[in-house]
Amino acid sequence: MLTRPDVAVVGAGPVGLAVAWRCASRGLRVTVHDPAPGRGASHVAAGMLAPVAEAYFGEHQLTGLLTESAARWPGFAAELAEAAGTDLGYRTDGTLVVGLTTDDLAEARRLWTYQQGLGLPITPLRPTELRDREPALAPRVRGGAIAPGDHQVDPRRLVAALRTAAEQAGAVWRPGVVGDLSEVDARVTVVAAGCGAAALTGLPVRPVKGQVLRLRAPGRGAPDFRHVVRGYADGESVYLVPRDSGEVVVGATVEECADTEVTAGGVLRLLRAAVDLVPELAEYHLAEASAGLRPGTPDNAPIIGALPGRPGVLAATGHHRHGIVLTPITADLVTELIVTGEPDPLLAPFTPDRFAGTRRAGHHGPGSDASAIEEETCN
Ligand code: GLY
Repeated sequence: MLTRPDVAVVGAGPVGLAVAWRCASRGLRVTVHDPAPGRGASHVAAGMLAPVAEAYFGEHQLTGLLTESAARWPGFAAELAEAAGTDLGYRTDGTLVVGLTTDDLAEARRLWTYQQGLGLPITPLRPTELRDREPALAPRVRGGAIAPGDHQVDPRRLVAALRTAAEQAGAVWRPGVVGDLSEVDARVTVVAAGCGAAALTGLPVRPVKGQVLRLRAPGRGAPDFRHVVRGYADGESVYLVPRDSGEVVVGATVEECADTEVTAGGVLRLLRAAVDLVPELAEYHLAEASAGLRPGTPDNAPIIGALPGRPGVLAATGHHRHGIVLTPITADLVTELIVTGEPDPLLAPFTPDRFAGTRRAGHHGPGSDASAIEEETCN
């Protein structure tokens, strides 16, 4: 590309690629900078689109954004699948929230009572109703609820589709590493670099490690259960995401660490909780154990909008546990901001200026889920 691009996107995860696709589709000249597209947090992510099951206490503004983005997912998935000519593994079977023991069920119920209080669609089920829906659940699972609107997508397929669609729309990939934003020459630069945004912008984005397993059903068949299962098992929180391919994603630890080592303890805790909830998983093949770094923020919410004191630089980062579900709305809002120059009112709680004065320590440039499986030490 010889002419100066209108938009340079730094970071080719789902958010960056979706911004690139949307902007290129609007006729803007777009470059995407990333030495390894799709190899960040999304490569490990399970792909739960769960605004209800992931609506946590004290995060009602984030829950509103998750709900709005999840509502855009069916249209986004259909449009993207058509543009890229591929299947995204988008499934609408719903999510079961279950508790193994009486204490686990009490914890799950406390959260879904809060979610119901927000008017979110989640319905308690009697144990017989639960087992009728998912006979693969262990007989000792005490009870649960269904969030029928909490869906799933395969993040690896999503990234591949977004890359194809963005390139077909005219976006150009630049494989070099961007060490400093001064290396990028464009009318607007969008920093969608996940944890890498901290070094590029000084924003308070920190790595939150998650270990994730991929199991594979024996033979060629799909798993015997179809719902996403978000379970509490002897005080641990785990999620199980079954795919038509036979894969079951088991996640995830939540660790305040910056390494991507897989630990025996992490694997043990994930597998124990998974098999306690769905015993047949003990017969599955262990296909992959990996770890990724979620881009966490001080309030667990993303950072989207213009960087104060940095004309022409926008942030689209800090999506923490919600990068996949928030991809459509982030791309829409960032694209509208670039095209019109006006921030959508939906962005107001999520702009970078809410962290003015709390920039990452040591930067000299200009500018939880408490119940999840947590490791006490890092490598
Ligand atoms: N949203 C799932 C996770 O962060 O583990």
